[in-house]
Amino acid sequence: MHVSFQIATDLTQAVTAAAAQAGLDAAGFSPEIRTADPRHGDFQANGVLGYAKARKLNPRAVAESLVAALPVDVKARCDISIAGPGFINFRLKPEVLLQWLTRYGTVDALRSGASSLHHGQRYVVDFSSPNTAKQLHVGHVRGMVIGEAICRMLAFCGATVIRDNHIGDWGTQFGKLIWGYKHLRNDAALTADPLEELERVYKAADAATKNDPAVLDAVRAELVKLQAGDTENLDLWKRINAVSSGAFTEIYQKLDIHFDHQLGESFYNDRLGVVYEELSRLGLAEESEGALVVFHPEHPRFKTQPFIIRKSDGAANYASTDLATMLYRAEHFQADAIVILTDARQSDHFEQLWLTTQKWFARTQRRLPRFEHVSFGSILGEDGKAIKTRSGDPIRLKALLAEAEERALALVNEKSPELPEAERREIAAAVGIGAVRYADLSQNRSSDYVFAWDKILSLEGNTAPYLLYAMARIHSIFRKHGIDVATAGQGQGATAPETETELALARKLVGFASALELTTQQLRPHFLCTYLYELAGAYSAFYNADKVLVEDPAIRARRLLLCSRTLLVLESGLSLLGLRTLQRM
Ligand code: ARG
Repeated sequence: MHVSFQIATDLTQAVTAAAAQAGLDAAGFSPEIRTADPRHGDFQANGVLGYAKARKLNPRAVAESLVAALPVDVKARCDISIAGPGFINFRLKPEVLLQWLTRYGTVDALRSGASSLHHGQRYVVDFSSPNTAKQLHVGHVRGMVIGEAICRMLAFCGATVIRDNHIGDWGTQFGKLIWGYKHLRNDAALTADPLEELERVYKAADAATKNDPAVLDAVRAELVKLQAGDTENLDLWKRINAVSSGAFTEIYQKLDIHFDHQLGESFYNDRLGVVYEELSRLGLAEESEGALVVFHPEHPRFKTQPFIIRKSDGAANYASTDLATMLYRAEHFQADAIVILTDARQSDHFEQLWLTTQKWFARTQRRLPRFEHVSFGSILGEDGKAIKTRSGDPIRLKALLAEAEERALALVNEKSPELPEAERREIAAAVGIGAVRYADLSQNRSSDYVFAWDKILSLEGNTAPYLLYAMARIHSIFRKHGIDVATAGQGQGATAPETETELALARKLVGFASALELTTQQLRPHFLCTYLYELAGAYSAFYNADKVLVEDPAIRARRLLLCSRTLLVLESGLSLLGLRTLQRM
């Protein structure tokens, strides 16, 4: 008998077939299988309730006829019960748990099992996407770490993922940047800390325009020259972008964040004409006070609040480039889905962008990809307000990451002073950066969250240090007894889980499939975090209750198998979230 990775999918198929067999009207019946309350089963089908209610049937009777029609192999694999007014609960038999654990025993096996979830789907994921010449600060971290995690998870689940860093490398800020670069820059400072210096130059130029109308004119003239393609200004623009992008790369490396493309806003400069032309010709866009705008009459707000797609001075804006970007991603990348990450304040923009794109593509008979604006809340300081330094500036990401490593090093020095210094530093980097990352990922991205060092670096609770430490402890058992982690318990006659804690742990491990499915459907990494935290809890309950290295070879083998699989799933899960895992801590 063949056990598949996502058992819920098999059950859905079985329930669909049984519903037909039992004479249920397919159109009115949802065969959906959910994760059940562990007290009642592993999976649950609730479709009978709505079905029976709508038809004034007795739900229990419908449930009974459905269960009677289930294929024999499902009955052989699960204990099935009907609860309350017609919930059907499936509890996997211990032998099935053992089969799953045996079959999905390597990262490759897990990946090939998971690959059916998003197989053949092409995702373009636009994340990080900072603006040129601006420091990366703590507010940028969410888009980066959530984006990276989403990319890794989708790829693991079989999707083709195209990662695009849509840098804000064009726009009116370049008037000030170029003028400032020409007149105010300090070359030594630019080498030492490029973003710092570019930001200073920008601010100084901005201040100068306020004090001196002649500077304001000069700044405007620089922008006009750039937009007209003046070679000197184009060169400077390129230089500024290169300097800026080099500084971004440093942080990306530190956070292990990768892109396949960096198609910034400027890439779309000569792809805007078709946007204006088509939207005007189709009657979607209209002139309003000199600007080109799109209204959405069916929408309560956007029927009066315009989507400005070209400014009244004829210049392009954020909306113009994003429309061109949608087209490029649909046509050039053949995207099935486009995912853009920004904070929630841009929700209106993306709602208008998507409404406009749907109409535009429908009227030009283009294939419409799915679209998802993955938005997120803010990071707050312990006072509940937007997190700032004492002087009131946003906290630089570079400084935040350095502090994370420093604090983690103090922790490691205290816990494991016997390890060589180089290793302690390495552990500190993994723990510190991992803690910042995990703190972010473990929160529902829609909410704001409070950033507190003590909490995120704690060895207790749903934190990176707790999970990394749980892994290190399992490794140490194997090390101490000279047992190979990868092959532990295999081919040694492991029997099916039996004790309550063995069973609970085994069920949790099998639940990895559902956790991945939920996380990638909703593009919310916190579901995977919660799952990993619960898995670590189930392991610890098992470890406290059941001695692993017992005499009986079959019991010993199955317990070693559970340890080894716990390690595998924790390792795979944390890597998908972007964390570096450790053997010792
Ligand atoms: N550069 C923008 C910002 O910093 C984010 C860009 C997101 N991507 C997009 N296609 N609009 O807010």
